[in-house]
Amino acid sequence: MKRQQIAAGNWKMNTTLKEGVRLASAVAKNTKTGNALVILGTPFTHLASVKQVIKSNKRVKLAAQNCYEKESGAFTGAISVDMIKSTGADYVILGHSERRAIFGETDKLIAHKIDLVLSRKMKPIFCCGEPLDVRKAKKHKTLVSQQVRKGLFHLSEADFKKVVIAYEPVWAIGTGVTASPEQAQEMHAHIRKIVAKKYGDKIANKVTILYGGSVKPANAKELFSQTDVDGGLVGGASLDAKGFGAIINSF
Ligand code: 13P
Repeated sequence: MKRQQIAAGNWKMNTTLKEGVRLASAVAKNTKTGNALVILGTPFTHLASVKQVIKSNKRVKLAAQNCYEKESGAFTGAISVDMIKSTGADYVILGHSERRAIFGETDKLIAHKIDLVLSRKMKPIFCCGEPLDVRKAKKHKTLVSQQVRKGLFHLSEADFKKVVIAYEPVWAIGTGVTASPEQAQEMHAHIRKIVAKKYGDKIANKVTILYGGSVKPANAKELFSQTDVDGGLVGGASLDAKGFGAIINSF
């Protein structure tokens, strides 16, 4: 079954507004042929301006990297889903391991944010993945199953179909150590299997599952060619227009 392939960039807390707009323009300019979507996960401060420079390119979409869990009110410094939606963003990255580890986000909170994002007709990019000690203890499949169940399995079929899943082993993020294509394939197949158990084969075969963790131009092709790997969520390498362009062309 044909699935939507995606090359998504997660810029994290990098780039000034000027640098970000320049980067987004270069990516949009270089994204021409092919069926894969390109998603730019920019800082909140850049969303509206980046939207302006990518909007004429239908293949390039905009994502926020998080949202606050309340809808509005006295929460100084927080960013709501309505604010994000009003910039023209299409996606929101949720449950990133940095949000889980540094900001203490729980499965329950992430599940709530998933609902909020869907309620505003945006699509969540739901991240899951195990730390190194969990993999060493051979508990990685158990943990990732739990994260996926607790984060997503409360959704109706109609809502689940709007979700993109990103498997990002924590030990591969920003470390230069990439999961081997076999390790990525094994976990992606596992995630698809548990989705099939809950929502059936048809929906499981349709859900886009991205791999994240030190994706580079040199390894993207091999990773993306795995049966159950539908693209990547790219951190560091998405900050370079040329390198990210090479990743986009790796399908
Ligand atoms: P790196 O590509 O820098 O390892 O980051 C991956 C990531 O966390 C994307 O969300």
